[in-house]
Amino acid sequence: MAKYRICLIEGDGIGHEVIPATRRVLDAAGFDAEYVHAEAGYEYYLDHGTSVPQATYDAVENTHATLFGAATSPSGEKPAGFFGAIRHLRQKYGLYANVRPTKTRPVPGAYENVDLVIVRENTQGLYVEQERRYGDTAIADTVITKDASDRIGKFAADLAMKRGKRLTVVHKANVLPVTQGLFLNTILDHAKTVDGLNTNTMIVDNAAMQLVRNPQQFDVMVMTNMFGDILSDLAAGLVGGLGIAASGNVGDKFGIFESVHGSAPDIAGQGISNPTATILAAVLMLDHIGDHETARRLDNAVNKVLVEGPRTRDLGGTTGTEEFTNAVIAALA
Ligand code: NAI
Ligand code: MG
Repeated sequence: MAKYRICLIEGDGIGHEVIPATRRVLDAAGFDAEYVHAEAGYEYYLDHGTSVPQATYDAVENTHATLFGAATSPSGEKPAGFFGAIRHLRQKYGLYANVRPTKTRPVPGAYENVDLVIVRENTQGLYVEQERRYGDTAIADTVITKDASDRIGKFAADLAMKRGKRLTVVHKANVLPVTQGLFLNTILDHAKTVDGLNTNTMIVDNAAMQLVRNPQQFDVMVMTNMFGDILSDLAAGLVGGLGIAASGNVGDKFGIFESVHGSAPDIAGQGISNPTATILAAVLMLDHIGDHETARRLDNAVNKVLVEGPRTRDLGGTTGTEEFTNAVIAALA
């Protein structure tokens, strides 16, 4: 019997390319796992009328971790019965921390010496998706609770203490003192009790500018759901873009690991997507389940290929998904 059981969800669009590519790399690395394939997303919804079937819940619950490709959420009015698969799974399994490391890698145009982590609160804020319309007025709720703020604040503070001991709480409490203020103050109350932690606060618009001008100042940044969604794509752009940005959705019990990017319908089906983001999500997954040795081997192999090539188109090269994956596998040897 294999040591680990892993759930693989391709989802939509380029998920059908990057998950199989990552599976090949994991196999080549000798990762001792058996895989359970499960379905979720918009394509599944179109065929079956729901975004996530029961078999997928079973697979997530009966494996050590899940690797997720991407899921489409059509913009505008949602078709009946549709819900965003990844947001649903984050909520259902209490995956309250979305951890998005941004580290300089050897790719063209990357800022030097960036090494920060965005910790995004993953279950609340505006992404509770409670919207309604009264005639020509539309209203969206934002939900912030003290418990969830405390939980994410503790998670971020713990992570900072394992790294550079610096925590930046990003907020908009100047305009939204009740909701953003509760988030900010709850986290500051905890941070004060952590010996040796250097905490500062930053208003989100300034944080966006500071990330572009001087990202090296940051270590761990914690923020509410939508700010984290937006700033983590910005941060990805500093170090090579969405093709290489990975993330983990973690809670007390389960973990779902995925790229930061979406289903990329503009390039899906062409075999040109960069699987690096998902391979690096697998690295986060391996560290999470305790296979640090395979994690380091994969990470090193990816870096070797990023230096030596070949490169996918998003990084200025011409190679396709399959050839790039072959190069990572060769670099493992
Ligand atoms: P996207 O992240 O899918 O794509 C943005 C741009 O980056 C596109 O030009 C795409 O071609 C490029 N790109 C993304 N990943 C790439 C890769 N691995 N290799 C090469 N190029 C890559 O964001 P977009 O287009 O705004 O959204 C498309 C769909 O994805 C939407 O339905 C959205 O709701 C969904 N989405 C899902 C996410 C998830 O499953 N966690 C996250 C973000 C968006
Ligand atoms: Mg996003």
